[in-house]
Amino acid sequence: MRIAMIGTGYVGLVSGACFSQFGHDVICVDVDENKISRLKKGEIPIYEPGLDKLVSENAAAGRLAFTTDIAEGLKGCDAVFIAVGTPTRPEDGHADLKYVFAAAEDIARNMDGYTVVVDKSTVPVGTARKVYERIAQTNPDADFDVVSNPEFLREGAAIDDFMHPDRVVLGGEGERAMSVMRKIYEPIAAETKIVETGLESAELIKYAANAFLAVKISFINELADLCEKVGGNVGDVAVGMGLDSRIGEKFLQAGPGYGGSCFPKDTLALAQTATAQGAPVRIVETVIDVNSRRKRAMADRVAEACGGSLSGKTVAVLGVTFKAETDDMRDSPALDIVPALQNMGAVVRAYDPQGMDEAAKLLNDDVQWMAGAEEAMGGADVAVIITEWREFRELDLQKVKSLLKDPVIVDLRNLYEPADMVASGLRYHSIGRQAV
Ligand code: NAD
Ligand code: UDX
Repeated sequence: MRIAMIGTGYVGLVSGACFSQFGHDVICVDVDENKISRLKKGEIPIYEPGLDKLVSENAAAGRLAFTTDIAEGLKGCDAVFIAVGTPTRPEDGHADLKYVFAAAEDIARNMDGYTVVVDKSTVPVGTARKVYERIAQTNPDADFDVVSNPEFLREGAAIDDFMHPDRVVLGGEGERAMSVMRKIYEPIAAETKIVETGLESAELIKYAANAFLAVKISFINELADLCEKVGGNVGDVAVGMGLDSRIGEKFLQAGPGYGGSCFPKDTLALAQTATAQGAPVRIVETVIDVNSRRKRAMADRVAEACGGSLSGKTVAVLGVTFKAETDDMRDSPALDIVPALQNMGAVVRAYDPQGMDEAAKLLNDDVQWMAGAEEAMGGADVAVIITEWREFRELDLQKVKSLLKDPVIVDLRNLYEPADMVASGLRYHSIGRQAV
């Protein structure tokens, strides 16, 4: 199969590289000339484990190419995937579809014979039909179908998620398009559940899954707060709940609130769509509110751990990305926590293994960016772990004690056992467990 991927970001680049690994001929198209020229030179514009090797091997094998020229991309292709961004529209919280529609019109003008147009971007229910109309209006002679094939990969584990997905969802109408989609996923079909459904259901599955996971995380986060009040341990509660196969153990890790490029924007977009349709999703609306408040409240925990005030205190922030193994800063809890610490009078010194370049653009100039965790902690009053990077799980605790002025650690990811911290002489505050 010959595939064009429109949009070469976190999803487009991973999907394109993985499809080429399946054996298809893939050409990735982007309007960002700098991104494409870097990719042509073999440079990977994002941090995603394993992606550099996958891209270089498939490019060398002649199955993966990059271009800014959509006409070149669409030449002779069987399917074109739209994998452009669908960020929150600031004025009303709906998903902004301007990039999707621009891509659809570009595709319409450059289509070369029968083509399946695939929405891989996360788009509100009803969008596939609008994409169909845009293309038909722009090029009345176009021979095409539109399919919805939402993507469920997680950053940091993107390649494994794409190659071994829990399921592939294919929403469409008509055998001609669906048979192309089945051929595309044929290399993993034997071990993968493929859900074939209508356009609307496929679009809703994506939002339903993300919103449900956001609900699960917010549930355990609120239980964590209750554990702190009553002497419980949220880790034990999560294990005990998760062993019930109807609940499942995943996504019950209490923390500073969910962030990232998907959960915050997708919960908001689903709530807006549902309200506009007269079928509000109140649970999701509540979760959005709970999560926003939680991120802001994390700075108060740091102040409490320091005796109530952060005025004049130096805070070492370990990790700023929204999760480990990515350089993505979109909607990271750190973007709420760091300014809140500064507003309380703290001097912030921060370190992140991959996210500092992007974070420096989004946080104010007063943040001091450090070369490592130990550099950040040297002479600081308190250390706050925001992201669960492996290197923060393996700190030399005696060294930490000697580096910090007042040996206080606020661990928003529960990376350590409280007993180990007591044994090391550190004062330790975590989530959903008793401070020691
Ligand atoms: P991204 O911002 O990383 O990448 C989007 C890319 O599209 C950019 O490189 C941009 O230059 C390019 N682009 C925009 N308009 C274009 C056009 N007309 N022609 C060609 N290229 C164009 O976005 P992302 O994180 O990859 O997300 C893409 C979509 O996938 C979103 O709808 C998102 O919700 C969804 N999604 C993302 C993830 C994730 O983990 N990031 C997971 C599942 C689904
Ligand atoms: C998410 C979805 O999981 C994925 O299916 C979708 O395609 C894109 O959005 P991603 O944002 O990459 O993936 O990361 P994920 O691992 O889901 O984490 C999202 C946020 O939830 C992070 O801030 C993470 O720290 C937080 N989280 C996750 C928790 O706080 N607790 C958990 O138990 C799991």
